[in-house]
Amino acid sequence: MLTAKEIIDIYVSFFEKREHARILNSPLVPENDPTTLFTSSGMQPLIPYLLGEAHPQGKKLVNVQNCFRAQDIDEIGDNRHTTFFRMLGNWSLGDYFKQEQLPWFFEFLTKELGLPKEKLYLTIFTGSEGVPKDNESYEIWKSLGITKSHVFFYDVHKNWWSRSGTPEQMPINEIGGPDSEVFYEFTNVEHDKKFGEKCHPNCDCGRFLEIGNSVFIQYKKNSAGQLEELPQKNVDFGGGLERLLAAVENQNDIFQTNLFAPIIKSIEKATEKNYQNCKKEMRIIADHFVASAFIISNNIKPSNKEQGYILRRLIRRAFDNFHKLGGKDISPVLEKVVEQYKETDPDLPEKFEEIKNTISEEGQRYKQTLKIAKQFIAKRYPSTGSGQVTGDEIMGITEISPDDAFLLYTTHGLSPTQIKSLGYIFNEQDFAKKMKTHQDLSRKGAVKKFAGGLADHSEKTIMGHTATHLLHQAIRDLLGNNVHQAGSNITSERIRFDFNYDRNLTDMELSKIEKIVNEKIRENLPVHFEIMPLKKAKEIGAIGLFDDKYAEKVKVYFIGDYSKELCGGPHVDFTGKLKRFTILKHDNIGKGYRRIYANIGD
Ligand code: ALA
Repeated sequence: MLTAKEIIDIYVSFFEKREHARILNSPLVPENDPTTLFTSSGMQPLIPYLLGEAHPQGKKLVNVQNCFRAQDIDEIGDNRHTTFFRMLGNWSLGDYFKQEQLPWFFEFLTKELGLPKEKLYLTIFTGSEGVPKDNESYEIWKSLGITKSHVFFYDVHKNWWSRSGTPEQMPINEIGGPDSEVFYEFTNVEHDKKFGEKCHPNCDCGRFLEIGNSVFIQYKKNSAGQLEELPQKNVDFGGGLERLLAAVENQNDIFQTNLFAPIIKSIEKATEKNYQNCKKEMRIIADHFVASAFIISNNIKPSNKEQGYILRRLIRRAFDNFHKLGGKDISPVLEKVVEQYKETDPDLPEKFEEIKNTISEEGQRYKQTLKIAKQFIAKRYPSTGSGQVTGDEIMGITEISPDDAFLLYTTHGLSPTQIKSLGYIFNEQDFAKKMKTHQDLSRKGAVKKFAGGLADHSEKTIMGHTATHLLHQAIRDLLGNNVHQAGSNITSERIRFDFNYDRNLTDMELSKIEKIVNEKIRENLPVHFEIMPLKKAKEIGAIGLFDDKYAEKVKVYFIGDYSKELCGGPHVDFTGKLKRFTILKHDNIGKGYRRIYANIGD
């Protein structure tokens, strides 16, 4: 039986034989991208290239990308969803299109993986305002011998892909396009009418499983809010590895494939329960510990914000279910997780201790939190019997006010389910109302915080990006070549730039740096890039991170002959566009790192 690793190898070599260059798996926690917490699809790190920038490794790319989708946390528990998964991806950056993509994927599925054609179903875009029905894909699938009864047309809700959903939901400058998905049919699963009268590929009963999605990224939302054709037609293919494995095994429960089954077994052993009787709980435990292991191996710690908050939720939810089933020691489960993934992710075993300690410590903290929460409620409701609270167990049920329940949520991070499992009931409608107001407020905050950033590619942000290169070089001119960038965050409003240096800069030094950058702006230097072998980039003294294992060629941006830096772009064409550079603030951010805030423009 094929393993996950073997499927990866077959897929990558299939596309390498078709002249695709293998690109690196990007970090699960994106660097220098303020717009997203996690990499959630293979295309995310490729956006500049889908928009038309030249990729240093060419126009045909293949890879396997570790992905995490926080929005799926609540779906975990069914036969097919996982928050963490590996996405097999191949891309055409303005090179081949539908005519090559669909037959290749079909050949991969039927010849390389040996899936029977009769089990495959296809979905195609039915058309929408301004975007025609995808008859081309239909003709191609037909020519491959797919019968009409296996082809289904859907609208923007199912057969349109962008990071933000339907064309209507796409923000300005977002890219997307119609897609064609392939589903595998598990003929042993009976349709459940609870999900609708008739079964079809997008029915949620579990008979069909989506195993691959070819997106034809050929549109961008323009500033007038309309879809406009991109200068190039791209293919963005993504296939879920864990799901392909399920299809290969004809196993409709991905938690029973050869990747997950040993992890489930270890949970059965640790809880002395049977999977058949507690599928939902065990799937949550398996999924959440796998995802936590990968997030921790990306140096994230549980906390109350951003990635740390998601990690905290995963760990706590996994513990809720583990304890519910009577589990005590999680170590054997975590050992199994690392063992199952070490073949594809060889860094994981080295991080085992860190993963185990982080999860155990968070488990302890969670216990403490629950104790404090119970004491708080016991004090507030002394007469209702919860006075018997021992800190560990509450006898009976206590009704508490929605305000207090909400306080448990905001101060202790307890979800409504967790609050209820402590033996408290409350008016859930009122709680939901409070939650909505709270979420609307944080969303507003988040939009503001994440405004701009390199991913939005607004003119101002691109200008900020070029200014960052000038700033980086100016800092090195003044402080020496041991100083380098340690991170940056560019929005349309300001530039944030971090670098290593052992003391704060003086006002005099800051104004010198500002002066150098402004001189380079006044000189109106041309900006261009060259794609060159990594070796040459090092020889000419380009600055940047030389850690791309697969990349033989890299992209170097030149600003006149003043700055040379490894970078994916985009940049302005002449520095004069930046007009003026002003340093706003300078901070010590600890551990030998400093930060500069600056802006550009009149
Ligand atoms: N980007 C596409 C997806 O995530 C392939 O489904």
